[in-house]
Amino acid sequence: MTDFTLMIHGGAGAIRDPHRYEASLRAIVESGARLLAAGSSALDAVAHCVALLEDDPLYNAGRGSVLNADGAAMCDASIMDGRTLKAGAVAAIRGVRNPVRLAYEVMDKSGHVLLVGEGAERFARERDVAFESEDYFRTEARVAQLARAKRKRETTLDHSEPADAKLGTVGAVARDRNGDLAAATSTGGVVNQRAGRVGDSPLIGAGTFADNASCAASCTGVGEDFIRTALARTAAVFVEFRSLRAEEAAREAIRYLVDRVDGRGGLILVDREGRCGRARSTPGMLTATFVAGVARVETT
Ligand code: GLY
Repeated sequence: MTDFTLMIHGGAGAIRDPHRYEASLRAIVESGARLLAAGSSALDAVAHCVALLEDDPLYNAGRGSVLNADGAAMCDASIMDGRTLKAGAVAAIRGVRNPVRLAYEVMDKSGHVLLVGEGAERFARERDVAFESEDYFRTEARVAQLARAKRKRETTLDHSEPADAKLGTVGAVARDRNGDLAAATSTGGVVNQRAGRVGDSPLIGAGTFADNASCAASCTGVGEDFIRTALARTAAVFVEFRSLRAEEAAREAIRYLVDRVDGRGGLILVDREGRCGRARSTPGMLTATFVAGVARVETT
């Protein structure tokens, strides 16, 4: 038996060919679990897993970020420490290889919670955070996807495209050996989005939340729906004040999302006891969990 819990997601939507994500999800959750087994904090484990998800062009975050209407990859990310309630986030940034690493620096070194755009990029340079060229983010698949969206004059979720049904947003939640919780989320946003649009992923309480008193949660889906319902915090309220277990809290949060704003997406959650929950209002969601020494990948 292990005494830590880790759960990651690679987005929710109508997932075509889900099997192609399985090996990546398994490798990433196992890599994070090795850190936790060696005594790493939940905070370091979620940052590690999200950075690996950002490096994999399969997912809409970091390298694989979708392109906005200007043809640029603009990234958002956040991280939260459930022990201290410290949090860091970045929004509308370009060129940073791992936005979650920059969010971590914001939490740790800036004295602020959220930095955006040019100011966030300047802070990244001060902190020696790695940058990549524009070509690194402009993968062939993303250029073709933007061209399709422009032809249809649509602003689409990455994972709502029936043509290739890729996914939006990545995230991780964990409870470490000390019982501390943490959550992190990262995204490239929505295909063909207006420059300057920011979704839920960098907003604490909307796309990400962690508090040792309740749970750690990371969301994926239509950002506007999750902002309006403060969904990550709503799930935590269900754990803290209604004493719901992880699975039940995740289900109730998604029920609330659908009832109140007809919202589309999903969330993952680890509660204060280390139980995992996942729920979605979309046809599928990509997740992997590591509990009691066993990795489990789910693609529906
Ligand atoms: N959930 C990611 C976004 O809407 O930007």
